[in-house]
Amino acid sequence: MTQSILLIGANGQVGRELQPLLTSLGNLTSISREELDLTQSQKIRELIREIKPHYIINAAAYTAVDKAETESDLAFAINATAPGILAEEAKNLDATLIHISTDYVFDGTKNTPYLETDHTNPIGVYGKSKLAGEQSILETDANAIILRTAWVYGVHGKVNFVKTMLRLGKEREQLKVVVDQVGSPTWAADIATAITSLLHSPGGIYHFTNSGVASWFDFAKAIFAEAKLLGYPLAIREVIPIITAEYPTPASRPAYSVLSDKKITPQLGYTPSYWRDSLNLMLKQSLS
Ligand SMILES: NC(=O)c1ccc[n+]([C@@H]2O[C@H](COP(=O)([O-])OP(=O)(O)OC[C@H]3O[C@@H](n4cnc5c(N)ncnc54)[C@H](OP(=O)(O)O)[C@@H]3O)[C@@H](O)[C@H]2O)c1
Repeated sequence: MTQSILLIGANGQVGRELQPLLTSLGNLTSISREELDLTQSQKIRELIREIKPHYIINAAAYTAVDKAETESDLAFAINATAPGILAEEAKNLDATLIHISTDYVFDGTKNTPYLETDHTNPIGVYGKSKLAGEQSILETDANAIILRTAWVYGVHGKVNFVKTMLRLGKEREQLKVVVDQVGSPTWAADIATAITSLLHSPGGIYHFTNSGVASWFDFAKAIFAEAKLLGYPLAIREVIPIITAEYPTPASRPAYSVLSDKKITPQLGYTPSYWRDSLNLMLKQSLS
């Protein structure tokens, strides 16, 4: 029997990468914000009851980390309430829910990669809303896979660190970038591939990022180095490392955001790509 797949958040960075992959796996319905606003609980239920999917993949989220500090209700509606409704409806249909969460559920005080079982303690509204989403899914006891990822960038989507660096690197000769926050830059396309590999895995929380560790400063330097090799016109001459205190933002961010891939690797059957290799592929796609 052909599997029916519902993709929510089809126009986000990860959603856009999922679309072509999921098309080859089943009968795909791709839904963007224009077609379904996740703050409309009843509409979510109606859509799912109409489509009756075997898989619900939620790539939509409120992702504006700083803005969330002043839009807490909206962030919680999209990131916490809506995923709970998706899970309830998935359970009623005996469907599988695949939901994406974040490294920002942790406070970043560890100095070895975070395990799925580690204590959560989000330090900002966005992280709190995403953690509440995980909890509302788990409470329903639906068959659900929660994939925590981090530092996402992609060819598609409105804004991300790579796009911002390329723009600034073209305009400025000097740039200050934070060096005391470390994580694993992760290409949206690799997350999409991982999701398709996990569809039949046991439910629960999994961590997935590209492998390796970088600071935002390392990430910026790598973006400029790779872009230069690809012939992208850059004005940038100097990237200066600064500490977080020199670049205050409305939301606090974890200093250490590295997620362990020990649990997910056997499920995937491969080791996630090294972050810099994926960056190189993404830039080749974007700039050529
Ligand atoms: N970006 C990161 O660095 C990062 C890090 C860790 C985890 N994650 C998680 O990874 C997942 C995918 O992130 P992403 O980077 O692909 O996000 P993204 O590019 O910001 O895409 C999110 C999508 O959700 C949609 N959306 C927002 N509000 C909505 C609403 N009320 N109703 C329906 N759709 C709505 C957005 O629509 P519009 O395009 O119309 O706004 C957008 O298409 C999310 O769960 C996110 O929390 C992201």
